[in-house]
Order: sequence, then structure tokens, then C-alpha cells
Amino acid sequence: MASPSTEWKETVPAGEATAFEGYAEALREMQRRAAVGGGKPGRALHAKGFGATASFTVLPDLPAHARQGLFATPATYRAYVRYSNGNGTPQADGKPDVRGVAIKVIGVAGKKIIPGLENAKTQDFLLIRTPSLPFRDAHEFVKVITAASNPLLLLPRVLGRLGLRRTLGLLPRLAKSVGAPISSVATTPYYSAAAVQCGDYAVRIALVSQATDASAKPGTSPDYLAEELAARLRRGPVVYDVRLQFYVDDARTPIEDFSVEWLAADAPPLTVARLTVPQQDTASPRGRRVAEYIEQLSFDPWHALEAHRPLGNVMRARNTAYRLSTQERAAAAEPDVGDGFD
Ligand code: HEM
Repeated sequence: MASPSTEWKETVPAGEATAFEGYAEALREMQRRAAVGGGKPGRALHAKGFGATASFTVLPDLPAHARQGLFATPATYRAYVRYSNGNGTPQADGKPDVRGVAIKVIGVAGKKIIPGLENAKTQDFLLIRTPSLPFRDAHEFVKVITAASNPLLLLPRVLGRLGLRRTLGLLPRLAKSVGAPISSVATTPYYSAAAVQCGDYAVRIALVSQATDASAKPGTSPDYLAEELAARLRRGPVVYDVRLQFYVDDARTPIEDFSVEWLAADAPPLTVARLTVPQQDTASPRGRRVAEYIEQLSFDPWHALEAHRPLGNVMRARNTAYRLSTQERAAAAEPDVGDGFD
């Protein structure tokens, strides 16, 4: 096992920014098409979701390499969570899909990255249920995602864009990452699958539930994921450990290749915080107002402290894509300390 290293680096090829602008526009086209007839556009990806209030507690006595940015000082913050399905249009929870969770920690002091939002009080984390992507980079990601907007054309389009060899390698990984059904968002582990800075170090982030009562069987209703969580939250809180894995070297913990899982044997996870979704009634009038507000919010990996700058090509591509998607759907402003719900 290697020690955390500060020797990570990003590799930024010439012309990348232009390609990423094109990708953001292609996703916005998908978003506009999905909204036709339906009025206001939703999210370009992860269109179906449900949210709840939460709290985020940074633990004391962390080792020096973890005590950076948000994790520098033990504290408890208000937070929002939004669980989602990855598809650009809402579909039944039983359908194969990416599953995501987004966290917005509120009341975080310190300079933020996005120009114009330097004084925002929020730090976001976005995670999915797989520790790596089926795709190596943002180019493969967007080529496949935009092709997948029409399932009948998926295979010919992906073949045309990536070639036979790469398509044959990628499709089984793709099927695996979206195929297996989940029974509950409260027992599923989630992973950033992408690195952010942690001061001078680089880390991937994971959420691991403390709940041990995972049911083997997924529900049958189209919205069973929200219904299952609502039932749990009526009974009590759902608590997750927030874990960091530290970069050790480019072979084992690459920054630019998102298809590689950072293995626990190489980069052992360290619990640094706790995310608590407290007992609440999501069906009450307050619960519905909370949910509506969270739908309007914008979760973005670049809503971050300088100390947690997102790293690697997928993250750089997201820097353009999320802004365009949130602009298109006229998302709500970043919440300030006193805004929203307790
Ligand atoms: C490690 C890779 C990625 C992860 C973990 C991830 C995760 C997520 C999650 C959890 C959401 C839902 C946020 C919410 O609930 O509001 C989301 C939305 C979105 N993602 Fe990603 N994503 C990844 C890569 C990408 C890439 C490469 C792109 C495009 C270049 C992209 C474009 C988007 C867009 C446009 C949205 C909707 C933004 C909005 O309107 O709020 N994502 N993603």
C-alpha cells in the first residue's frame, strides 16, 4: 500500500475546451428535445429525482492529509440531497439506468471556484453507484450518451463514433453499470468516480450507508425508489459515512482515465464525515415544498472550494455542461446560509 501523494497532475490536450463546448451544446439539444410539448426543460441528464433535507458533519481527529478545505475543521452543516436516475427523460425506476446522488453542503466559508460565485456558501458532491465509469474520458461519455437518446440507434451510432474494437470493450461495461437493479437508495454505496483536490492531495469520494437492511428485491412501482426512501424516513434517519480515497500514483489511481477503479488495496478509504438524512415526512406539505425547491437547485461539481477543485477531463467537460443545462432550465440561485429549510 502506497502513501497519499501530492504528485498527481492533469493533462490538458490542445483544443479540448472547444470540444467540451460542443458537447455541452449537444447535451442542451437533448435537453430541449426532451422538453418539447412538456413546457419547462428539466435537467439534461438525471432528469428524474427526489430530494430531502440533510446534515453533513465533518469528523474530528482526521489525519493531517485529510484536514483540507471542507474537512479542515470539525463542524455540522445543513445540506440537501437529491437522488436521481441518470436518463435525460424520466422513466420507471425498474428500467436499467445510472443512479446518482447529489449533495449540497450549505454555509461553507471560503472562496469558491466559479467566476461570479466566489462568495457562494455551498460545496457540492455528485456521485453515482459505480466506482468508475464504463468510459475512459469525456469524449466517450458524450458520444455514447448522446447516441443513447435513441435506443434503436445506439449500437450503430456508437460503432460509428468509437469503432468496433472499442465498442466491443465498452458495451459490456456499460450494460453492467446500468443493468443491475437497486432495491434502495438508502443501502446503495455511491462513488464520485472522479477526483477532486483535497488541498495539495487528490481524492475520490464515496458514500457508504450505515443501514444494513438491504432488501434483495427491487420494488415494482414506477417510483419505488422514492417510495422506499419515504417509508424509511418516516421511521427514522438514514446515515452514510463519507469516505475519501487518496491518489497514490498514476498507474493505480489515474486522474485522466475514469474507467479505472481506485482499489481499496491501493488507496484505502478514510471516513472523514457523516451525511445524515434525518427522519422526515417527504409527503407532508413541508416535504413537498422541500422536494420542489431541490428540483430547482443546481448541483454541480464545480460548486466547490478552491481546495476541492475537480480534476481530469470528465470534470473539465462538466464545467461547461452543467452551466448550460442549469441556464436552460433557469435553475434557482445558490442557497445562502439562512435560505431554504431547516
Ligand atoms: C464521474 C462522472 C459523473 C458523475 C458522477 C455525474 C453525476 C451526476 C449527477 C448525480 C447528476 C444529478 C445532479 C442533480 O441531482 O441535480 C448529474 C447531472 C448532470 N450531469 Fe453528470 N455526472 C458525471 C459526468 C458527466 C459528464 C461527463 C457530463 C457532460 C459532459 C455530465 C453532464 C450532466 C448534466 C448536464 C447534468 C444536469 C445538470 C443540471 O441541469 O442540474 N455529467 N450528473
